[in-house]
Amino acid sequence: AEPELAAQFEATVRRKDRIEPRDWMPDAYRKTVVRQVAQHAHSEIIGMQPEGAWIGRAPSLRRKATLLAKVQDEAGHGLYLYSATETLGVSRQHLTEMLIAGKQKYSSIFNYPALSYADVGTIGWLVDGAAICNQVPLCRTSYGPYGRAMIRICKEESFHQRQGYELLMTMMRGTDEQRAMVQESVDRFWWPALMMFGPPDDASPNTEQSMAWGIKTHTNDELRQRFVDMTVPQAEALGVTLPDPDLVWNEERGAHDFGQPDWDEFWDVVKGSGPCNAQRIAHRKRAWDEGAWVREAAVAFANANDEEVPA
Ligand code: ACO
Repeated sequence: AEPELAAQFEATVRRKDRIEPRDWMPDAYRKTVVRQVAQHAHSEIIGMQPEGAWIGRAPSLRRKATLLAKVQDEAGHGLYLYSATETLGVSRQHLTEMLIAGKQKYSSIFNYPALSYADVGTIGWLVDGAAICNQVPLCRTSYGPYGRAMIRICKEESFHQRQGYELLMTMMRGTDEQRAMVQESVDRFWWPALMMFGPPDDASPNTEQSMAWGIKTHTNDELRQRFVDMTVPQAEALGVTLPDPDLVWNEERGAHDFGQPDWDEFWDVVKGSGPCNAQRIAHRKRAWDEGAWVREAAVAFANANDEEVPA
C-alpha cells in the first residue's frame, strides 16, 4: 500500500492541505519537520535569556510587568512547539537533551548579548519583527500541528513587536543619551536580525525540498527582503538610521536594495562560536539539571495516583 499512501501524501501537499500526525509521511519529511520545529522550540526557550536578564532592571513597574509577560509568552511558545514535535513521537526531554549536548541548533540571534535597556526595545522591534515575517507564512505550513501552533504564536509575537517599538518610541522622545542608546542598539542588532532568515538561497541546502513539501512557503531571501521593506519606514518614523550604506529604494524592483550580512560571522555563530553560545547552553543545562527533582516528583505523583484509581 506504500505507493498509494505516498501518492496520497503528494496530493495533500499539492492541494496545500495539512498533513496530520496519523497520516503516512515519508521519513525524510518527518525528520525535516522535527528538525525545524525543534530548532524553533529551542529558539523560543533560549530566547528567554537575553531579555530575562533585564526583568530585574526594568525602569518602572509597568515596563517590568510587560517584559515579564513577554518572556513568559516565549516559554509558552516553546511548549506549544515541543508539543507539535511530540505528535511525531519525539519527546521534549529527548530534544532538550540534544540541545544541551550541542546536537541541535537554535536561532543565531540569541547568541548576541542584550547590553542596554534599549536592547529590550530593539529585540521586540527587530528580532520579533523578523520572527513575525518568517512565521506568518508558517501558519500555512503543511504539517497541521505546527501551523496551528504558529497562529497563536504570531498573535503574541505581534504584541511583542509593538511593545518593543513603543519602548523605543518613548526613548526617542527622551534625552540625547536615550536616543544615542537606541541608535547604538539598532547598530548592533540590524545585521544579526537579517541573519535570522538563514543563509542566502544559493547556500541554503534545505530550502528546495522544504518548499516542495510545503514545510516552508517562501525562501530565506524572499523573507529577508520582505523584512527590510517593512522595517525601513518604521526606522524613519522612529528617527533611527539603519547601519547599511547600501540600503536604497530600487524603483525598478519596487523594493529596497541592501547589503549582505557577514556570512562568515553567521556560520561561526551557528557552529557555536558566537559571543554567548557557551553561556546560553550552560544556563539552559543548569536550569534543566536543577529542575530534575520537579520532573521526578511529577512522575512519582502520577504513578502514585494511578495506583489509587479504583478499578
Ligand atoms: N540560526 C541558526 N541556524 C540557522 C539559521 C539561524 N538563523 N538559519 C539557518 N540555520 C541553519 C539551518 O537550521 C540549517 O542547519 P541544519 O540543516 O543542521 O538544520 C542550516 O543553517 C542551513 O540553513 P537552511 O538550509 O536555510 O535551513 P532551513 O531550511 O531550516 O531554514 C530557517 C532556516 C529559515 C530558520 C527555517 O528553519 C525556519 O523558518 N524556521 C522556523 C523559524 C524559527 O526557527 N525561528 C526561530 C527564531 S525566532 C524566535 O524564536 C523569536
